[in-house]
Parts: sequence; C-alpha cells; structure tokens
Amino acid sequence: MTSTDVLFERLAEHRRETEAMSLRMLFENDQQRFARFSVTLDDLLFDYSKTHVTPETIELLAALARAADVESRRDAMFAGEKINVTEDRAVLHTALRAGADAVIRVDGEDVMPDVRAERTKAARFADGVRSGALLGATGERFTDVVNIGIGGSDLGPAMAALALAPYVQKGLRGHFVSNVDGAHINDTLRGLDPTRTLFLVASKTFTTQETMANAGAARRWLVGGLGEAAVGAHFAAISTNVQAVEAFGMSAERMFRFWDWVGGRYSIWSAIGLSLMILIGPKNYEAFLEGAREIDEHFRTAPLEENIPALMGLIGIWHRNVCGYDTHAVLPYDQRLARFPAYLQQLDMESNGKSVTLDGAPVKRKTGPIVWGEPGTNGQHAFYQLLHQGTNVVPADILLGAVPHEHVGDQHAMLLANGLAQGEAFMAGRTTEEASDILRSAGKSEDEIAALSPHKTFPGGRPTCTLAYRTLDPRTLGRLIALYEHKVFTQGAIWGINSFDQWGVELGKELANRLIPIVKGEAGAESLDASTRGLVAHLQKLRG
Ligand code: F6P
Repeated sequence: MTSTDVLFERLAEHRRETEAMSLRMLFENDQQRFARFSVTLDDLLFDYSKTHVTPETIELLAALARAADVESRRDAMFAGEKINVTEDRAVLHTALRAGADAVIRVDGEDVMPDVRAERTKAARFADGVRSGALLGATGERFTDVVNIGIGGSDLGPAMAALALAPYVQKGLRGHFVSNVDGAHINDTLRGLDPTRTLFLVASKTFTTQETMANAGAARRWLVGGLGEAAVGAHFAAISTNVQAVEAFGMSAERMFRFWDWVGGRYSIWSAIGLSLMILIGPKNYEAFLEGAREIDEHFRTAPLEENIPALMGLIGIWHRNVCGYDTHAVLPYDQRLARFPAYLQQLDMESNGKSVTLDGAPVKRKTGPIVWGEPGTNGQHAFYQLLHQGTNVVPADILLGAVPHEHVGDQHAMLLANGLAQGEAFMAGRTTEEASDILRSAGKSEDEIAALSPHKTFPGGRPTCTLAYRTLDPRTLGRLIALYEHKVFTQGAIWGINSFDQWGVELGKELANRLIPIVKGEAGAESLDASTRGLVAHLQKLRG
C-alpha cells in the first residue's frame, strides 16, 4: 500500500466517524466555523464551511496532497518540465500570463521572448481593428468579429466575451461559431455584412474537422459577397500549425502563433483569446492575465491549508472519493457567467476524465466528477428540486459578485439573497418537526400534517462552497478561471493521472471520418455494426 492509499483509508475511517454529525450541528458546535473554514485573498472569499469537514479532515487532505507530491508536481509544471508525458510536452499556460521579467525554459530555451512578441503582435492587431486603422477590403470599419473554433478554441473566448460584455467596445460585436451543424454558421452569418465582418479561425492543430468546415463556409460567404481578393483583409488565423495556416492562404502578419505546450482547454491566455482582446481591448485583456497571475502566485506560495485552489481540489477529492458523490454543480449567481459551467466542463472533464495513471495502470479510485450547472436564479426553477430533495447529493459551488455593473432597482440584492438562501437551505435543510410546526401554524389538522410533512422535509447536509468577489471584471474573471485550472491540477496530481492529454476524444473523431462517405452514400455500410447500419439506412431514406 502506498502512503496515499493509507491516507485514503484514514479519510474513509474519519468519514465513518463524523458522518452522523450534521452540518447544522457542526455550525452549532463551533462559533468559529466560518472563520476556520474560509480563506480571503484581497476581495475574493472562498467559504467552504458549508461542507462536511472538520480540522482533522483538512489535516488528512493536506497530508494526502503532500503524499501525492502535489507541490513538487506543481513546481515542475511552472518550471516547464514535460509533465504531459503521453504527448511529451510541457504544460505552460502559466507562462502566457507570467510577469514581465519571467524567464521560463522549455528544452533549455526561454519561451518568454516569443510569448511577449506574439502578445504584442496580437495587441497591435486588436488596436488596429478597434481604432479603425485596420479596415475591410472595401474600406469599411469592422463591426463584427466571428471566432471560428471549437472546444478550447471556442469555449474560453465565447464564455469570456459574455462574462465581460460591459467592457466590449461600443459598435463591436463578437460571434462564436463552433458546431459543424451548418445551422450554427448559417444563423451567425445571417444579418452580417461581409464588408464589416472579420473572421478569426482559431485552431491549435488547424486540422479540426468542424473548424475547417466552418472556415470554408465563411470563406465562401465572404468571396460570394466581396470576391476572392477580399479574403486577406477579412481573415486571420490562430494556431500552432504554421504550415496548415499557410496552406489555407493566410499571410504571416495575419497569423497568430502559440505553442504545443499550451493545452487547448488552457489556451484562452494565448492568441486564442484574440477575439476577446479585440472586443475588450488589450488593456482589459492585460488585467485578465494579471488576475490569473495573482492566482498562480497564490497557488505557488500559499501553504496547502490556506491555498484556495488546492483547497477546492481537496474538498473535491473528499466529495468524490470519500463521500462518493458523482457530480459537481457550478452555480454562478452572475448571469454573465452563463457559459462558465460549460467552460469548466471541458477544463475539468477533458482533463480529469481518465481511467489510467501516468504509468498506464488502472486508477484505484474514481477520478473527475461530472461537472454541470446553470446560473442562479434560473436553475432554482429547473433542477434545484433534485438538489434539495433528490436521492443524489450534489456538491455545488455558488459564485456571488457583490457589485453589479448595472443597478436595476433592488434586483442585485434579490440575486445575492437567493444565492445565499440556497446555500443555507442546502446546508440546514428543514426537519420534519420544523415542517410540522409550519403546517400547524398555517392551521392544518394533525392528519394533514402527518400526510404533508414528509414532502416538506428537506434533508439538508448538502455541501456547497461559495466564491464571493467584488465584481465580474477582467481581473476577477482571470482569477476565477485560474482557480479552477489549479483545482483540476491538484486533483489530477492526487489521482496520479495525466490531466493534459485527451486521447478519449480521438476514437469518435476517427469513426466520424469513416462514416462521412457512408452517410453521403459514397461508400458501403457493410463494415458497420447492425445498429449503426440500421440508423444510416433510416437517415438515408429520410434524406431522400
Ligand atoms: O475535442 C478535442 C480537442 O482536441 C480539444 O482538446 C480542443 O480544445 C478541441 O479539440 C479543438 O482543437 P483545435 O484547437 O486543434 O481545433
């Protein structure tokens, strides 16, 4: 048995000893519970007191992290070591937001001069579009920026452009096309004017089927409107694959590079963020990077017991491996974070959805949870019923911003009150006795009370962590993303898996490529299994 196995056993035993103690009781027994189980970092507050932890839980979890070498793995990542072993790559999204004097080497070479040069080039381009110095082929100013990408080449900028909508320059609109479903590009282009539209083709590999298909459709649309000669002025590309971009016909000054040591789902900090940079401006984009850098510094230096992302990861381990909860909900009480749960799905599930350890052995315990969520208060009127009274316990993160960008009556107080109320209700629940008392004071008979009270009982004990911050500005968004990146890192290190590859998405891609000629009727279906063959036949009949 390894030292981590021993600690997992001790955690399981500790869980058995403490399980009977309700969250309510934990609060009643310890007036200092909130202070004990919360951490502040400037205006950012991480409150994990509404989870079923005691000081001993945290001690054991921190010991687990130390036994799993989380800190030395973290240092190896920041130092540019090739911790993505299955792809023989460094993992250096942190270099993209490192300070001005940073020196970070990969294979002995400092990557920072290139990082800075690409960022300067992107900023110059963004400023050109924003100021009107860079115009379309017919001399019009760009009003619409269409990012064509998928996965990490879409979710980051799409999520962030919505989150930072108040910072978007007046007269500029961002659009994000990802799905190979022609409806997506069709609906996006409908109503756009080619003379004012700039396309950014964002793809790390520049081979992704969906992106290449949508880029081709966009090109045809533009050429249809303005002619072949307009392509150069209306397209730019972001990729690590210089040859493929050149083959697409893009000039060097319209190509923004990044590097294989930036994972797709960690690439918002690279030129993949160009659409965001154009929309909010290089200065705000810089603040976004700075926010992430602050969290990098905190993650690198704070002791595990006071380290917010490490604690987020450890509490996740507690919920997943010790309490046995399968999913994790992200509930931002911040409408502009509507796409944040989807962004975190890729970050977390593509990173930690793994079944083998770094050396290829089967993992000994469950890895990444199913991550999902929707903004509050909308979710309250949809799926919270199950969270309150269903048979699954779903740990959740509640995100609360104190100061809104717009003051619409007292709606922001209402929003915050709802977020706080849900955390309270998940934690405390309502006993049958309390439910009965309420029914009694409403004048119900004892028979009615007996019939209704089980339905009005809430078990409580449903854990939540709350992240509270001043306002959703570029710096805060940068901090929030980096917190979750390092949470995912912490968990992956404890599970001993590679959080930076994604071989699991390859099989589906390969099979889709094999199926395209079959669906088009250009190849026979004999090689397919009976179900897929039957479905192809049915669809072909309907397609006529
Ligand atoms: O779906 C797998 C994946 O490789 C993601 O990891 C990546 O973010 C996405 O596809 C898009 O890849 P690319 O940026 O190379 O087009």
